[in-house]
Amino acid sequence: MELKRAKISAVGHYLPDYKLTNKELEGMVETNDEWIRTRTGISERRILKDTDKATAYMGAKAAQEALDAAGVKADEVDLIILATVTPDYLFPATACLVQNSIGAENAFAFDLSAACSGFLYALTTGSMYIESGRAKKVLVIGADKMSSIIDYTDRTTCILFGDGAGAVLLEASDDENGIIDHVHYTEGDINCSLYQPAGGSLNPATAETVANKDHFIKQDGKAVFKKATMGMADVSLEIMEKNDLDPEDVAWLVPHQANLRIIDATARRMGLSNEKVMININKYGNTTAATIPLCLYDWKDQLNKGDNIILSAFGGGFTWGAIYLKWAI
Ligand code: UT7
Repeated sequence: MELKRAKISAVGHYLPDYKLTNKELEGMVETNDEWIRTRTGISERRILKDTDKATAYMGAKAAQEALDAAGVKADEVDLIILATVTPDYLFPATACLVQNSIGAENAFAFDLSAACSGFLYALTTGSMYIESGRAKKVLVIGADKMSSIIDYTDRTTCILFGDGAGAVLLEASDDENGIIDHVHYTEGDINCSLYQPAGGSLNPATAETVANKDHFIKQDGKAVFKKATMGMADVSLEIMEKNDLDPEDVAWLVPHQANLRIIDATARRMGLSNEKVMININKYGNTTAATIPLCLYDWKDQLNKGDNIILSAFGGGFTWGAIYLKWAI
């Protein structure tokens, strides 16, 4: 059987309307616009205010937009993979809620947890189903309602994150364009530098865990910054070298949007000029699993068939990796 590459055939997105600006954060914690912009590159982030809506809602909106763009009906989808650290429930999987919401009655669906690398892990997994011929149409979604696990009295984390979702449809490619290679890494973080202490089976919710604010993100920012800067730059260079790509061969870097300084260091290491780097952290902050598909959505009209694109991410776990693809639309 001839193996076919998986191609991204459409992109969709969802962003809540509400903009939480640096100015508004100045009234909530001891911080200021200048510190946030110079240390992170963030000016504002979107927040899903509706208390009756969460990750599944945003993921379904993004998925439906991708299907509409491709002219594909929901019942044609074989598989839905949703990357998130903010599932609507611990179970059932948020992917199941999306499957029901969009009417993808012939699809099986599951969640994938790899924090900020979640979309890349999910894209690699989805592409394997297409390459093997086991699935013809796969929805890969990155969606996070980060505001649901943020302590808005903790200035070290509340300035960083936002809510949003992005989705891509994967189909078999008829030519050489599509997803070509991936490199993924994991290093179990025994120091818990970036995690949510409670709510899982080790520390189920109690009055004490709530009082301790253990259901919110805790991060050792400096430690994670160091690892992320090295990890994202190393893996991006590795995938270039593995595929004999020189800086001039790369049309775009699509980096996870955690901190502008990490993005800049990655681009420098790859030898790429700024105009080849997708950056929207200023508008959306860190939307965890959604950052990379949100970039693809924002830049989709500037992409040309055959463009060499490197996707790259680092996140909690630790998890990190890069994907090399040729744009196929
Ligand atoms: O996406 C998953 C992976 N996550 C990341 O990649 C995030 C990685 N980490 C980072 O992006 C950065 O470490 C932060 C943006 C979180 C922090 O930036 P930093 O340059 O590492 O700052 P810092 O933690 O070294 O703090 C410097 C100072 C401290 O004050 P002192 O001790 O020097 O007096 C902090 O208390 O800045 C203070 N600070 C703030 N000041 C104003 C920390 N947060 C704030 C704040 N506003 N929001």
